[in-house]
Amino acid sequence: MNEKRSSFSGNIGFILAAAGSAVGLGNLWRFPYLAAQYGGGIFLFVYLVLLFTFGFSLLILEIAIGRKTKVSSINAYGKLNKKFGWMGILSLLIPVLILPYYSVIGGWVIKYMTVFLTGQGKAAADSNYFGGFIGQTASPLFMFFLFVTLTTVVVGFGVEKGVERVSKFMMPVLILLTIGIAIFVATIPGAGEGIKYYLLPDFSKFSFKTLCAAMGQLFYSLSIAMGIMVAYGSYVKDDIDMNKSVTNIEIFDTLVAVLSGMMIVPAVYIFSGEEGLATGGAGLMFKTLPKVFDAMPMGNFIGGAFFVLVFLAALTSSISLMEAVVSMFMDKFKLTRIKAVLVIYVIVLALGVPSALGYGIWSHITVLGMDFLTFFDYISNSVMMPILAIGTCLLAGWFMNLKDIEDEITKNGEEFKRCGIFRVMIKYIAPVFLVIILVFYTLAQFGFISY
Ligand code: TRP
Repeated sequence: MNEKRSSFSGNIGFILAAAGSAVGLGNLWRFPYLAAQYGGGIFLFVYLVLLFTFGFSLLILEIAIGRKTKVSSINAYGKLNKKFGWMGILSLLIPVLILPYYSVIGGWVIKYMTVFLTGQGKAAADSNYFGGFIGQTASPLFMFFLFVTLTTVVVGFGVEKGVERVSKFMMPVLILLTIGIAIFVATIPGAGEGIKYYLLPDFSKFSFKTLCAAMGQLFYSLSIAMGIMVAYGSYVKDDIDMNKSVTNIEIFDTLVAVLSGMMIVPAVYIFSGEEGLATGGAGLMFKTLPKVFDAMPMGNFIGGAFFVLVFLAALTSSISLMEAVVSMFMDKFKLTRIKAVLVIYVIVLALGVPSALGYGIWSHITVLGMDFLTFFDYISNSVMMPILAIGTCLLAGWFMNLKDIEDEITKNGEEFKRCGIFRVMIKYIAPVFLVIILVFYTLAQFGFISY
């Protein structure tokens, strides 16, 4: 681990690294489909409110814990208070569960990338194309395998820096392209209704599910509630202005997500109407965007470029997920880097197979009524991450001196503008709120209550 505890070069280095991990499929694939499903504008509204209160507090807390303890999450919680050592294990398990299904979707991106680059965009615009693809056996498995192997090779050879450099350069291009596509969608007749649906909150559509979904998405998108940002914090130099960096990461991450929704949600409205919003599910981006590209001049080229950029964003995120798991395995089980990488490669391949086959030959098998991919997404985002977040808040707010964390944040005399919000959030609102969400959501999942 010691060789790894290098540090980021200054504010910008840290912001870019954290943004590279944060911006990924969560923003481009997950955010739009949840927004479509959970009421559009109201989802966006709830998300933004949570982001600036809750998301901010938790993100800065995790980074501060990392910088203070200078160890990764597997040991950090226990170092602050022995009673909280179990959270280290949980923080190891979460990325281990996320990485496999993340890679399945990464595989879908590779598939669409090749489809567009080989000029078959027209075929992909067919409504049955996506279902046909994920319903197969060999093809989704192979694409998944390819994505995991690529991630593993990059992590194994320690060439993340190279990939990160490329993707940092590509990120602005991705944003510009997303803006361009969103503008194009806005010009298609009938887009107005969809844009209204996405941007204007309709408070009658608010439900408990909206809140839960927005919360899970917040964790996912900011890569918090899984210990990763603790590890990042441990690489942060002492003279970094955390408050400013965290604000930048938040804004950047959210910008990409909101833009992605702007490109996808109105398009769903145009091509599949109201019922398309509710039924789109995890495949939304893959079903809708090909239709947009098909309606565009140079659709194959633009679609190809777009999926290449999505692929890069997904890859930088999966690399940092795997990197986190690798360093925890090395710490915990005293493995060499190569051994840790190989063990994780095998685990990810094994755990990903059900998710890759869950829409085809294994579609008859469900867990708690969900297909495998949805189940892994649910168990990590809606159960384990809230538990870790509750634990983190209790630890920081009640089982140590929260002032120590605040001092860590303002170590260099920085102004901590949202200190009041931070304190109230961490001590009271966040833990209470999270417990309520967790309990209700679980009861509903098992059919004890309906909401
Ligand atoms: N935030 C990433 C995304 O939006 C996904 C993710 C969740 C992640 N946890 C992570 C990435 C940890 C890297 C490390 O796609």
